[in-house]
Amino acid sequence: ASEPLVLGIETSCDETGIGIVRGRTLLSNTISSSMDEHARFGGVVPEVAARAHLEALQPAIAAAVAEAGIALADVDAVAVTSGPGLAGALMVGIGAAKALAVGLDKPLYAVNHLVGHIAADLLTGEDVEYPTVALLVSGGHTSLLLVRDLVSDVELLGETLDDAAGEAFDKIARILGLPYPGGPEIDRAAAGGDPSAIRFPRGLSRASDMAAHRYDFSFSGLKTAVARWVEQADASGQQVAVADVAASFREAVVDVLVTKALDACAHHGVPRLLLGGGVIANRRLREVALARAAEAGVAVRIPPLSLCTDNGAMIAALASELIASGRQPSTLAFGADSTLPV
Ligand code: KG4
Ligand code: ZN
Repeated sequence: ASEPLVLGIETSCDETGIGIVRGRTLLSNTISSSMDEHARFGGVVPEVAARAHLEALQPAIAAAVAEAGIALADVDAVAVTSGPGLAGALMVGIGAAKALAVGLDKPLYAVNHLVGHIAADLLTGEDVEYPTVALLVSGGHTSLLLVRDLVSDVELLGETLDDAAGEAFDKIARILGLPYPGGPEIDRAAAGGDPSAIRFPRGLSRASDMAAHRYDFSFSGLKTAVARWVEQADASGQQVAVADVAASFREAVVDVLVTKALDACAHHGVPRLLLGGGVIANRRLREVALARAAEAGVAVRIPPLSLCTDNGAMIAALASELIASGRQPSTLAFGADSTLPV
């Protein structure tokens, strides 16, 4: 085949992801996560994540190569996330990618993690159209982007000013005495609850915030409000209605995410919305996004969850697009950039 075989390495957070693609065809996507090691800390510990990547990379590369049914020597280009993400974790992946590229004498592409999430959609085998608005929500980021062209025109419309959406789920789970990671636990607990039981604040969603068409997010006020509510219920000897708190909290997060994403679609005249990141696993988020988007005439795309959470295939997919567009490879001089802009 004429399209290049690309191996992608993703280590920006707690997932060691190795993906192999040929053009837009997915050949393998192996992920090993250090999530269990972070559980007792209630969140990702950077040092622990970096060490776990170091141990996981070699076997993960071998597994991805085997699964793709190729030989490592067949790889035409190596791609790696250079940011944004945890600096130490990124450095481990970058080191491995450089070694691999030098060893194989193949070009190396340093790519942006957030743009990688958008590129994941190309691996579904379906026709993808731009422009699209993209909402990326995970434990590490909450970003709203306007994608006019994947390789040359991705604009950041807004991002979280404090906690990421997934991080908010994890912190609230902790307050409610639920285990880590909190997202799936809250989803489960919320199933029997009333989402309108408690009206929790919607951060940066006043009329003046919305009128400015700035799309930043804030979840710290919401977190404080939930913590205070639980404290007061405890203090007054009431049984905390975990299901109602979980459902009401989830509703507040989902409401803000979907409202801002669809407002961005309307404001920019873009009838498409792509969802990505691990929080997309949230059932209520998918449900509300699909229902409200249908009302607004916006088509929603949700790649399979294995492509939504952090993975190496999306990094390889983005490099494929860069190669197809004639982009020159990176030199070996780049390092980790924990705040790399899109
Ligand atoms: O993309 P991802 O797998 O990786 C990192 O961010 O590292 O996202 C993980 C995050 C965690 O914060 C987790 O609590 C959240 O996604 N998450 C969810 C759900 N499943 C996972 N949040 C809300 N609802 C869920 N069902
Ligand atoms: Zn991510």
